[in-house]
Amino acid sequence: MSLNNLNTNISLIDYNTFGIDVYAKEFIVVKEISQLIELYNAGYFQKNHLILGGGSNILLTNNFDGIVIKIDFSGKLIISEDEDSVLIEIGAGENWHELVLYAIQNQWAGIENLSLIPGTVGAAPMQNIGAYGVEIKNVFEYLFAFEKESGQVVKFDLEACDFGYRSSVFKTVHKDKYIITRVCLRLKKNPKLNTSYGAISETLKAMGIDNPGIKDISDAVIKIRSSKLPDPNKIGNAGSFFKNPVISKQQFQKLRDKYPEIPSYEIDQNSIKIPAGWLIEKGGWKGKIYKNSGVHEKQALVLVNKGNASGNDVLELSQKILNDIKSKFGIQLEREVNII
Ligand code: EPU
Repeated sequence: MSLNNLNTNISLIDYNTFGIDVYAKEFIVVKEISQLIELYNAGYFQKNHLILGGGSNILLTNNFDGIVIKIDFSGKLIISEDEDSVLIEIGAGENWHELVLYAIQNQWAGIENLSLIPGTVGAAPMQNIGAYGVEIKNVFEYLFAFEKESGQVVKFDLEACDFGYRSSVFKTVHKDKYIITRVCLRLKKNPKLNTSYGAISETLKAMGIDNPGIKDISDAVIKIRSSKLPDPNKIGNAGSFFKNPVISKQQFQKLRDKYPEIPSYEIDQNSIKIPAGWLIEKGGWKGKIYKNSGVHEKQALVLVNKGNASGNDVLELSQKILNDIKSKFGIQLEREVNII
């Protein structure tokens, strides 16, 4: 039977981008639906379990006293294709950035702004990954997910996913109920490029490119990200640790009176999103070290493992930041990373 690759007492250090060294009581890599069904039949989904993709959005604070299920469905399948677009279905375990590069190689547009985001394809819709003016929901068609309660595979279309800023039904009403197995995207052959995000147009200009293609945009995004965000292979981190808060216009105006330089994006008539990174930097946290963790020197939104950090070092640091930003600016930040 295929559960014979189940291991016990495995270190998770290579399975989370923070590089936290905790142990899982049991560990299995799943490559086929039949294995999920076996786990289901053996009652594993009724017991303590943790579903893992690329481990790029979690902070592990304890040894895991249950089974860790690493999702590793592979494959890229073209479902249909015409002059305008291609519909492509991708296994949840595929690496997101490799998919982006594959799309660019084929001249398929739509995800070039999402270059270099760590993690897997299956994790991408969970939190509607986004960067530089684009979110996965802009190219999303449907996904398949294994329902833990019934053992059935269910299809979710765009509407059923109810995507929002760093959010979907898989983080809200269906939290912990499904395992995403395949994701289908519609990529465009005649690209509508999105260079509206300030840093992209500036970087393209600096690169001397005035008529960019999708590869140029991807190169620009890679350049911006690598200059600000730590490479998880070198410095453990999980990207943005906090979400950018949305506040009322009223509250924003008060803040702007005090800090005229505060950056902001209008969400609608009544609400404004402000960069948490700016608040954290203004609060004096950029580059600060706490135990074996720290705030990244180049982007205050990112917490890092300074070497041998425990999950609790990072968690305690994040709590100090939450408290301090609340007392200094009256804003309650929220963590974006899942604490386990
Ligand atoms: N800022 C500071 N200090 C900092 C960081 C940022 O003042 O330490 C200011 C910048 O100067 C700029 C503004 O904040 O005016 C926005 O900064 P940036 O463009 O770096 O974007 P962000 O809002 O900090 C978000 C996403 C990133 C994504 C970028 C680009 C969230 C939580 N984060 O960051 O996503 O790459 O926009 O689109 O929405 C991630 O989710 O892991 C991630 C990296």
